Amino acid sequence: MEILLDTANLEKIRKYNDIYDITGVTSNPTILSREKAEFFPLLLEIRSIIGDKQLHVQVTGSTCEEMVKEAETITDKLGKNTYIKVPVNEEGIKSIKMLKSQGYKVTGTAIYMPQQAMLAASVGADYVAPYFNRMNNMNVDSKKALEEITWLFEHYHKDTKILAASFKNTHQIMDALLAGAHAVTASPELYTQMVESPVIDSAIAGFGADWEAVYGDKRIYE
Ligand code: E4P
Repeated sequence: MEILLDTANLEKIRKYNDIYDITGVTSNPTILSREKAEFFPLLLEIRSIIGDKQLHVQVTGSTCEEMVKEAETITDKLGKNTYIKVPVNEEGIKSIKMLKSQGYKVTGTAIYMPQQAMLAASVGADYVAPYFNRMNNMNVDSKKALEEITWLFEHYHKDTKILAASFKNTHQIMDALLAGAHAVTASPELYTQMVESPVIDSAIAGFGADWEAVYGDKRIYE
């Protein structure tokens, strides 16, 4: 199971990279635009924080030629463990096929339907990123869609991994993992919500009070 951070915020990347064993960071043009910073300097900062972990960066061109050129520049500047995110439409599939033949690492993105995932896998995408919440917004059963992608990849022996994305709450993350996603990428705050709650705080406070009642302020390491 892989956990990635879906943010380009440097402070958050520093903080959550310290806490969790993240596989990497994912971005898209919208996520990057929120930081109001220059494109490559920001990505280079992210690269310096995460070392050689995965960095997923999306192309912005609409033709195969443009996407391949962008991939070349992105990989030159950000290093080998950079995944080129390519939206999966027909031009995107052509680009994924071309990029894979040239040895790039590729993530097929903007996946709203299992058929997109299947076709991206058929041309060798390393990851596909189904948009869990956006599918829900279209009245699609996202968990079922992920189960179908999982089934297709297993049945047809595809090595492509499912990197579920676009989450708005922690239940969606759990549903994606239970449906078979190999990896999830989410806003860091959602990982916090998975392990922070008043009941956990209260349990910890109870243990603290019971310890103090007998041992006072003595510490185990003393
Ligand atoms: C990640 O790969 C996606 O680009 C991202 O999760 C989309 O999230 P959104 O639906 O919140 O824009």
